[in-house]
Amino acid sequence: NLPDIQPPQVDWASGAFADGPLLSKSTRLRDLAGIFADEPARQQLPGEQVIYDVEMLATSPAEGELYTGVTHLYPGRVGGEYFMTRGHFHARREQGEVYFGLRGNGLLLLQNEQGEARLEKVFTGSVHIIPGFTAHRLINTGGEVLSALAVWPGVAGHDYAALANGFALRVMVSSEGWEVHHD
Ligand code: PA5
Ligand code: NI
Repeated sequence: NLPDIQPPQVDWASGAFADGPLLSKSTRLRDLAGIFADEPARQQLPGEQVIYDVEMLATSPAEGELYTGVTHLYPGRVGGEYFMTRGHFHARREQGEVYFGLRGNGLLLLQNEQGEARLEKVFTGSVHIIPGFTAHRLINTGGEVLSALAVWPGVAGHDYAALANGFALRVMVSSEGWEVHHD
């Protein structure tokens, strides 16, 4: 009658969780209306196409507790713009988050409440400290799946509406790989 000492387990190479209580959410092109610069290009692509999957451990949302999840952002483009997550501020603005790059290559777009944006490269082993009061979005600039592990406060919540007018910059395809466009 030994206690169950088996913790959750993640495969660092792929970001896949082993069997366990998981919550999963797929975000498809049809869910991302108005997110990409070229809306007609988005409408011409299949709406059911999955752009990213999030899997998270089903743990407590109570004050002081932490959530753990992995985002798998698939490679691709809408018009000249790389696939990306919707992006959000936390509803509880002061709450931060940590991202860890697991596989693939991309960028983490960070933007403060003054509208100042900056980018960090995401790659295997990269660590990203997202401060409070900072919106965040993943962008896949590579040809492989971009997978990143995230840990964030259960109380943080997501505020998508605050970015209804988008971020201050976009990452577009260029002959160099990618380039920044300012809106
Ligand atoms: O907690 C996070 O910041 C991530 O798990 C994101 O929610 C995930 O990457 C999906 O992005 P978004 O919530 O902006 O659609
Ligand atoms: Ni977040």
